Formats: sequence, structure tokens, C-alpha cells
Amino acid sequence: MRAVYPGSFDPVTAGHLDIIERAARIFDHLVVTVFNNPGKEPLFSVEERVAMLREVTSHIPNVEVDSSRGLLIPYVRKVGARVIVKGLRAMSDFDYEFRMALMNKKLDPGVETVFILTSSQYAYLSSSLIKEVASLGGCVTGLVPPAVERRLRQMWPVVE
Ligand code: PNS
Repeated sequence: MRAVYPGSFDPVTAGHLDIIERAARIFDHLVVTVFNNPGKEPLFSVEERVAMLREVTSHIPNVEVDSSRGLLIPYVRKVGARVIVKGLRAMSDFDYEFRMALMNKKLDPGVETVFILTSSQYAYLSSSLIKEVASLGGCVTGLVPPAVERRLRQMWPVVE
């Protein structure tokens, strides 16, 4: 079965990678797709986010990285999937994810949203918190894949 894991991935974190690795063990094929969130000004371009995702998922043979714009549901149908994978951290994610899952169900009742709970060590992680800490010179080792850490350090050297 094919599934789509959509997100902003600006940038991909260790929490995202954990969800990708676990989803790739459940589904035969996982398409990880970068969508631009119109409400957020991105740090990395879509091309950079795709390149980072490809680099950090290159060890997982059944993962493909793509990008798209517009509505998720037609994209899911276009790639031949019937499942959307989302990661859930705290209860604070739930309300938004619940509403999106129900709206997507309304748009296409044949597409299911499957939630995977974060591993506890990543429950507090978010791309925005990573960007805030890195931009202020904080160390994000272990919180993002090494390839992402390198790019963040090129932008903002770590203050020792
Ligand atoms: O990583 P994010 O920012 O939580 O990802 C949000 C994303 C990209 C999954 C969401 O904004 C989305 O599905 N965008 C596609 C546009 C769409 O279908 N919007 C309606 C959802 S009900």
C-alpha cells in the first residue's frame, strides 16, 4: 500500500525522520511531499527542502521525495495513494490535525489519515523551534539530521 507523508519540512527534523522510518516499515511505498504552507515564510526553498529530505532518506529504499502545491487530496489520488500519514506530538497538535483529517475525509472519503505518535524524545521538537535556536547560535546536534545541521551552521555559526 502507498502512503503520502506531507509537510512543510522547513527543515526536516529528527522527529520527522523518525516518523518517515517508522511509516516506511508499515507501508510498501512512502511518498514524502514538501508543501508550501501559505501562512508561513519559509527559511529554505522547496528545492532545498527536497534536497535535504532526499539526502537524509537515501538509506530507505521505499521512500520517495516529491514536492507539490495546492490541495493535498488531488495530489494523493494522483500518486495512487489512499493513505495520508501525519505525525502527532502533543495534544496541542490534535485540534488542528483533527480538523484537517476531517476536511480531507470530506473531500475524499476514500482517503484515510493515519497518525503515528512521535517518539518521546522528539515530542517537543518543531522546525520553528529548531530555526529559532539555531538562528540565535544554539546547538541543535541530535535534533536534526547531520546534513541539516551543516546547512544551519553555514547560516548561523554556533556560539560556544
Ligand atoms: O508541516 P506542516 O506545516 O504541519 O504541514 C501542513 C500540510 C502541508 C500538511 C498542510 O498545510 C496541507 O495539507 N497543505 C496542502 C493544502 C491542503 O490540502 N489544505 C487543506 C487541508 S484540509
